[in-house]
Amino acid sequence: MAEIRKPNASALRWLWKERCVSQSDADRSGVWRFRELLHILRDEANIVSLHEGNTPLYQLRKVAKSTGIEQLFAKHQGMNPTGSFKDAGMTAALSVAHELGFEWVACASTGNTSAAMAAYAARAGMRSLVLIPEGKIAWGKLSQAMDYGALTLQLRTDFDGCVRVLNDVVKRAPVYLLNSVNPYRLEGQKTPALEIAEAFEWEVPDHLIVPGGNLANSSALGKAFLEMKHLGLTAKLPKISVIQAEGANPLYRSLQENGGETLEPVEAQTRASAIRIGNPASWKKAVRVIQQTGGYCEQVSEAEIALAKAEIGAEGIGCEPASAVTLAGLKKLARQGKVQSAERVVLLLTGHTLKDSDYTIAYHRGELLKAYEVGGLRPEIELTRRNAVELDASADNVLKELERAAGR
Ligand code: F0G
Repeated sequence: MAEIRKPNASALRWLWKERCVSQSDADRSGVWRFRELLHILRDEANIVSLHEGNTPLYQLRKVAKSTGIEQLFAKHQGMNPTGSFKDAGMTAALSVAHELGFEWVACASTGNTSAAMAAYAARAGMRSLVLIPEGKIAWGKLSQAMDYGALTLQLRTDFDGCVRVLNDVVKRAPVYLLNSVNPYRLEGQKTPALEIAEAFEWEVPDHLIVPGGNLANSSALGKAFLEMKHLGLTAKLPKISVIQAEGANPLYRSLQENGGETLEPVEAQTRASAIRIGNPASWKKAVRVIQQTGGYCEQVSEAEIALAKAEIGAEGIGCEPASAVTLAGLKKLARQGKVQSAERVVLLLTGHTLKDSDYTIAYHRGELLKAYEVGGLRPEIELTRRNAVELDASADNVLKELERAAGR
């Protein structure tokens, strides 16, 4: 970076915005319109795109009231073509695999990476191999990998076990590895940070809160904000905080116990299956990003995740459980005085609510929380939970329910 000549920042900003009204596939992609900061392809003709990126940044007005954070926003990466933030990285890395002439690409996944990889591989006319932990991913994601034609192998192990097997497979077969350690995926996953800065007229928010699983996303976003500042596109860095589920918290533990010097893998356990990861590959990068930006790492309970997800849903936005850890984490950080009410905060929502509809249904039917310690959250949970009621078909029955609901 030290050797890069600083570009003309306002010319770049203008060019990136101008591309939004172009008809070319590369320009209409919210990843490739920033291609001056992604030096990864020799020939733009090799771009494989599904018009990813350019995702909405929603203001969360109700949640702002309940958290006391007035300027609260959600960058909804679940509004990507395959319903998760993975598309931004996948268009980048799959295009490279395509340019390099590979026939097969492969990943181990908790579901979203496999859905994205399968879709982009299919667009490029390539074959894809998916290793997922049997019974431990949401059905919506599994169905996507199948729908897009991936060879979908469900291994009797967890995500970390799938990664081990895949690392062996790629040594023995000519398949291109698309796990999040792939550096080109990180390049693509920088672009939501550019979109956020652009949306605020290049004034970065005070705080960006992201979920932590394999810890690639926090690393990519951190890299983007550091590069933007270095290139003179922005003047400061947001704090980047990473939130993990209590049952899948190796980064949280590492920072608590030894300041991020070493990381002890854990046996991961959480209903937020996307982040059920005990041995995250990119933990060192995530530690660096948290330290360089002055952010925090927190852990949240299963009940806190469920409540936060329902609150985001009640804004008409919706997300998958792994994304909701951001709001649960924000509440905790605000209680600890680590986020002030006047700060502008962005939550990164990583996946669409339809990715894991079983979870949502189980919550609203009152089945999900039975196993969890809900403690002091009970009143708030009662307010968000709406029973799905089965009735005999009559207008009287419906009107009775309507009256009951209006009284709540
Ligand atoms: N949120 C969602 C919805 C995810 O799918 C993932 C990771 C994360 C957050 C965590 O991001 O790993 O960069 O820290 N999903 C991967 C997958 C592991 O295979 O789909 P991270």
